[in-house]
Amino acid sequence: MNILLLGSGGREHALAWKLNQSVWTNPLYIAPGNAGTSQCGINVPLDINDFEAVGKFCVDKKIEMVVVGPEEPLVKGLADYFKARPDLEKIYFIGPSQEGARLEGSKAFAKSFMNRHGIPTAAYREFTLENYTEGVKYLQQHELPIVLKADGLAGGKGVVICQNYVEAMAEFELMIQQSKFGDAGKKVVVEEFLDGIEVSVFVLTDGKNYLILPEAKDYKRIYEGDKGPNTGGMGAVSPVPFATPSYMQKVEDRIIRPTIEGLQQDGIDYRGFIFIGLINVQGEPFVIEYNCRLGDPETEVVIPRLENDLVGLFISTCKQELDTVQLKVDERTAITIVAVSRAYPGSYEKGYPIDGLDNSVPRDSLVFHAGTLQKDSQVVTNGGRVLCVTSFADTVYEAVNKSRDVLEQIDYDGIFYRRDIGYEFL
Ligand code: AMP
Ligand code: GLY
Repeated sequence: MNILLLGSGGREHALAWKLNQSVWTNPLYIAPGNAGTSQCGINVPLDINDFEAVGKFCVDKKIEMVVVGPEEPLVKGLADYFKARPDLEKIYFIGPSQEGARLEGSKAFAKSFMNRHGIPTAAYREFTLENYTEGVKYLQQHELPIVLKADGLAGGKGVVICQNYVEAMAEFELMIQQSKFGDAGKKVVVEEFLDGIEVSVFVLTDGKNYLILPEAKDYKRIYEGDKGPNTGGMGAVSPVPFATPSYMQKVEDRIIRPTIEGLQQDGIDYRGFIFIGLINVQGEPFVIEYNCRLGDPETEVVIPRLENDLVGLFISTCKQELDTVQLKVDERTAITIVAVSRAYPGSYEKGYPIDGLDNSVPRDSLVFHAGTLQKDSQVVTNGGRVLCVTSFADTVYEAVNKSRDVLEQIDYDGIFYRRDIGYEFL
């Protein structure tokens, strides 16, 4: 089967690695991919938000399956574009319709969806320029801290947790009056702060049936001990020790099933991944956010734990036959450590040669590329997050040590990574 995977990060390298193992895959194209994905298939220089270019490539190469890694093409309606074109509509497409992708693309849409379907989440109100003064009054009487969220996609920066009223007012004004996040922030969700540990749950759904993939926890802060600014993710662990079977049963009963039934009731076509960001408040799960894709770097631990053939799973998804599938999961712990560029998540430089990638890697470890580029015969850095080293072991401690050993053999100017991934579970 001719398969096209869209995206270029660590998530996509992990997906490409897994897709490439499938008996169905031949060949695999990745657009645009990175130096790592080129070991799993053929990289193609396509702009994945240029729907016509993607469509033309699919026709030219007789693509039979498209798998979408990041949210942007989905939020812009790529699935609908494929459904609307007679020459593309038969292609198996993994990723929700534009309406389904609004679960991630609009925080206000996600909140009203959850309220409508009785899914536990933080209490909220939404405001725009029209009810701005009412919003100011609402903020003044709100308990601290106050969570402000830009409604639309804001590159992971649209959530601000304000510890005092001065900061909350200033941020509210910046978002609505000064368009701090452009159109994405002209509507603001003001939300109650929930205090607890976060866990990411991943669901693959065909719109009727669903499979719950291994859960994961990611580490967003740049420095050890969860200090410093937020990043795209510095590491991840799966399974998550506090996500016990009884906790996961609550998640399934109160959140996952109502979400899938809610999509059906609302007539939303959804064939793809749902990433549910949960917060555990005294043993009770609440939804922080939905994403219409897999997480990064969570994918780098979730996908290696999956033992099923991924293309087979995707075919069952498109045929709405996931009820016939049994998931098989590696019981061991997987962790990933992300190596980043100097000064990330601030502005950083690219193009530094990466040494040590040709070293042999132990059997229980995998090196996924995130921001890398093949330049002549050399792989160079090409992003803030550069590499993700995943390892399996029976314990978090051993798995972290294995990834650290691999990372010690790799070097580029400005390499930095956290050595404490999974620290609270040691
Ligand atoms: P998001 O961009 O929706 O992923 O939110 C970014 C981060 O903000 C989340 O991962 C949480 O750590 C935090 N956050 C979002 N909403 C809340 C909330 N209501 N209470 C506490 N923390 C939150
Ligand atoms: N790791 C969080 C995300 O992918 O959004």
